Amino acid sequence: MTAADTVRTIAPAAQVRDAVKVYGSGDTEVRALDGVTVDFPAGRFTAIMGPSGSGKSTLMHCVAGLDTLTSGSAYIGDTELGTLGDRQLTLLRRERIGFVFQSFNLVPTLTVAENITLPLDLAGTRPEPGLIDELIDVIGLRDRLRHRPSQLSGGQQQRVAVARALAGRPDVVFADEPTGNLDSRSGAEVLELLGDAAHGMGRTVVMVTHDPVAASHADEVLFLADGRLVDRMERPTADRVLDRMKEFDGPSRQEARS
Ligand SMILES: Nc1ncnc2c1ncn2[C@@H]1O[C@H](COP(=O)(O)OP(=O)(O)O)[C@@H](O)[C@H]1O
Ligand SMILES: [Mg+2]
Repeated sequence: MTAADTVRTIAPAAQVRDAVKVYGSGDTEVRALDGVTVDFPAGRFTAIMGPSGSGKSTLMHCVAGLDTLTSGSAYIGDTELGTLGDRQLTLLRRERIGFVFQSFNLVPTLTVAENITLPLDLAGTRPEPGLIDELIDVIGLRDRLRHRPSQLSGGQQQRVAVARALAGRPDVVFADEPTGNLDSRSGAEVLELLGDAAHGMGRTVVMVTHDPVAASHADEVLFLADGRLVDRMERPTADRVLDRMKEFDGPSRQEARS
């Protein structure tokens, strides 16, 4: 048995089964997800890649409880999201999921320290002792705690956003193009943080990206095309990911049919 097999025998932190997501109807109908089954093993860093419009963000939003599937099922741990009401979904997102967005989404009127603890403050829970201190050291911004987001570089702001996502010890951290607005060096720092979250802190990390270099930081890359899972790659390198992406450059399935 390989190490990867061992990981797979542990219950996944998140998964979707036969996931279908249809937007609109009639002439404007789009099948953003067209029967995707995939799991996200606990403690792993998984990247989701694919051409623009292939369903990456839709998949992430549906597994993270930000959007609902048209059919099929999505799970966080063994909780099926489709069985939850709005209130329960909000609680699940708050307690078990962390988010990192391309645009950082920090609250401009709060300090760095206040932004990091905001999810805990909203939930009315106390941070685990020492965790916030540890996160501040990990992101390297101890001397900026009283600054506002506008006083930080983009890379620093995104490091704060990663700390905020980790502050509640979530089961899964979802990141949608977290390096999309960053230069390559700041991006690499954020990717290392996400890698640490998985391999050092035991979080499960799922990242959507269109950047082969970003994807190469993950343990595994999933490739989507036209709403389907078409390939997966263990221990990716930027070159191998780039080569695989080049195969998508032809006409899409929908265009080829018409
Ligand atoms: N809210 C929406 N309403 C209608 N169509 C949507 C909506 N969100 C996404 N889509 C469509 O679904 C498909 C997949 O979108 P998305 O998941 O955002 O792709 P990706 O993140 O891979 O670029 C695209 O064709 C997109 O136009
Ligand atoms: Mg997207």
